[in-house]
Amino acid sequence: NKMFIYKGMVLTFHELTDTNKEYIENLEHFEIRESDVFLVTFPKSGTIWTQNIITLMYEDDFPEEVNLNRIQRMPWLEIIPKNKDYNSRPSPRLFCSHLQEHLVPKGLRNKKGKIIYLFRNPKDIIVSYNYFCKYMLTFDAYKDMDETLDKFLSGFLFGGSWFDHIKGWYNNRDKFNILFLSYEEMIKDLRSVLVKISEFLVKSLSDAAIDKIMQKVTFNNMKSDPKANYKFLPDFIMKKEGTFFRKGTIGDWKNFFTVSQNERFDKVYQDKMKDFPLTFTWD
Ligand code: PPS
Repeated sequence: NKMFIYKGMVLTFHELTDTNKEYIENLEHFEIRESDVFLVTFPKSGTIWTQNIITLMYEDDFPEEVNLNRIQRMPWLEIIPKNKDYNSRPSPRLFCSHLQEHLVPKGLRNKKGKIIYLFRNPKDIIVSYNYFCKYMLTFDAYKDMDETLDKFLSGFLFGGSWFDHIKGWYNNRDKFNILFLSYEEMIKDLRSVLVKISEFLVKSLSDAAIDKIMQKVTFNNMKSDPKANYKFLPDFIMKKEGTFFRKGTIGDWKNFFTVSQNERFDKVYQDKMKDFPLTFTWD
């Protein structure tokens, strides 16, 4: 078992991250700068797509980093940096995080820094996770969709409870400088989302600059971009047959869920999300 639980959040330990409880605990005191940008997601919600978009928006700010992988330009907050302390990074610092709201640096709660919270239809997350956990060796591999669904509904997979994750962030949104976006709106109208992101980040981009980013972040272009596709992960972390780019569509759950799995999901969903105002595009 590669997972560990810390204050209700399920994290994964591995050689790449060295993540441990002490490190996560200390993150609460990590000093936030006004110019920090965070992308927060539950795993499999479109993180690396948006990581790519945001780093491309800041490409001109760091010309010397242009050849680095996206993960080096926009690292995961909860992954212990190997050689450089995050405090010594120049501004604006870009971070990704899968952390739940109660675990992030306290400074963010004073509306310092900017957060983009990206969410996705949870049924599609389950399908994506079910595929991915067979290849990502730092995850527990579930044998089938039933098992993945069980773990998801009980909250014992990487990221913890999806329900707690999105509710924690959304219900506390007034404390943060935060923009909520969905994977589905990115699929349906990426240009509008890029405009929204650039306005939120106060990054003025010409139409031509937006066109250029749109071109670079298509599913196929990212899949073949060595700086974006995570093929550089060693094979003790990710099996070579696996990919972060499985299908990249919405509503794929319908090709995987049985009627009874769908009912099981809906029952829990209706119970846990009954008064939750955000709605999802299911297909
Ligand atoms: S992770 O492991 O948590 O970082 O995974 P994450 O990046 O959050 O989610 C992976 C899913 O995002 C899809 N993806 C994309 N969709 C559309 N366009 C682009 N460019 C893109 N890049 C990644 C990826 O295919 C995974 O979804 P599924 O449904 O499995 O295909």
